[in-house]
Amino acid sequence: MSKDPLIELKSVAKSFRRDKQDLLVLSDLALSVYSGEIVAVLGKSGSGKSTTLKVALGLTMPDSGSVKAFGRPVSAPVPKMTMVFQNFALMPWLTVLQNVELGLEAMGVSKQERRQRALKAIDIVGLDGFESAYPRELSGGMSQRVGFARAIVVEPRVLLMDEPFSSLDILTADNLRNDLLDLWQERQTHIEAMVFVTHNIEEAALMADRILIFGINPGNVIAEIKVDLSHPRREQSEAFDALVDKIYSAMTAPSSQRAMTGSTFKVIGLGYRLPKVSISELSGLMEAICFEDRPDKVELHELADDLLLGVDDLFPITETLEILRFAKVSSGKIELTPAGLHFAQGDIQEQKALFASQLTRYVPLARHIRRVLDERPDHMAKEERFLRELEDSLSEEGAEEVLATVIEWGRYAEIFAFDYKAGILSLENPD
Ligand SMILES: Nc1ncnc2c1ncn2[C@@H]1O[C@H](COP(=O)(O)OP(=O)(O)O)[C@@H](O)[C@H]1O
Ligand SMILES: [Mg+2]
Repeated sequence: MSKDPLIELKSVAKSFRRDKQDLLVLSDLALSVYSGEIVAVLGKSGSGKSTTLKVALGLTMPDSGSVKAFGRPVSAPVPKMTMVFQNFALMPWLTVLQNVELGLEAMGVSKQERRQRALKAIDIVGLDGFESAYPRELSGGMSQRVGFARAIVVEPRVLLMDEPFSSLDILTADNLRNDLLDLWQERQTHIEAMVFVTHNIEEAALMADRILIFGINPGNVIAEIKVDLSHPRREQSEAFDALVDKIYSAMTAPSSQRAMTGSTFKVIGLGYRLPKVSISELSGLMEAICFEDRPDKVELHELADDLLLGVDDLFPITETLEILRFAKVSSGKIELTPAGLHFAQGDIQEQKALFASQLTRYVPLARHIRRVLDERPDHMAKEERFLRELEDSLSEEGAEEVLATVIEWGRYAEIFAFDYKAGILSLENPD
């Protein structure tokens, strides 16, 4: 591994304009990528992972800080660096070959060389024989392979990947991951380093030499884990289990902010991006924990295994349980609070009452909606009223998602009702 980093971000800050208050997405971010390594980036949705990749690539300019690629300051899209996205927008009217050639055309490569290089890239990603197929004839996994071919045909030195496997089914993702690792180890390309964003802890543990964990609000790297297991890594080994444990612990370590306030619980504000989690997921998880042999010491990764849940599904649920103070998570373990235990063992009416009280106590948005409805003579309010407020701190889409979530929770708890057609919140059901 050479000493000079291929990518070097220092003290990077980035915010996005909002109506009233700017949203600080990245702050004091430092990150380096060296030749010869695969780096995984893990972190909650909204922690600025995609933004970080775009900054490294020169697609997005930071507000401050220094960004260097191959030793030079970045001020425009960096040649020799490409990005693979979750879903590649393939041109439906072009064949696989033409789709792969597209990027080279823009670079002014001659027709003959384009063809030659595209054929080679298609071969490398295992799509030999599909050159003249159209995107509609391809499965999800094959389309993503075309995406990879399009990225490697320009002979990048660094390959950035933003959740490249997350839209694929488990077997397809597994297959593509293994092929990518083979490619990497056999040095079939010019790629010197790969960086990928993932929600999947196992995926990070399987592939990466170094794992960076992003914290949120604002986003930056809160932990780094070096992995020295050789490839191919066996998922059924003690060393692999230990690594997964370590990642879980790092992702669930109490934040310094929480440690400072002395509270082990998360305190959230009105515009907090509530995880998109349903009541059945919350109650299902609490009940599952309650039924474990040692409900006071449940390992998150074992729980995920037992429930056949991916981590991207598990974390939003555990975060919500923490917000509602139904559970406490630390060092990779989850434990129900007395309220959580009570909920898990209660009947439907008890559960609803308990949920209502936790919701109005610990979720400011639910409390706020309830107060507005209480104060109005007709006990009604349009959802727009709350959406506009949320848009101070969330995007339009984010605001809609958060309101929909709190409405689902509030209706279940019967602290308010909602008429979907009219978009009106009220204290009583309109019918
Ligand atoms: N172009 C943009 N304009 C406004 N807000 C943005 C833009 N891109 C990202 N954001 C916001 O920045 C935050 C971080 O986004 P992102 O980098 O996509 O996070 P991640 O990839 O970790 O989920 C989110 O709150 C998102 O809504
Ligand atoms: Mg993202």
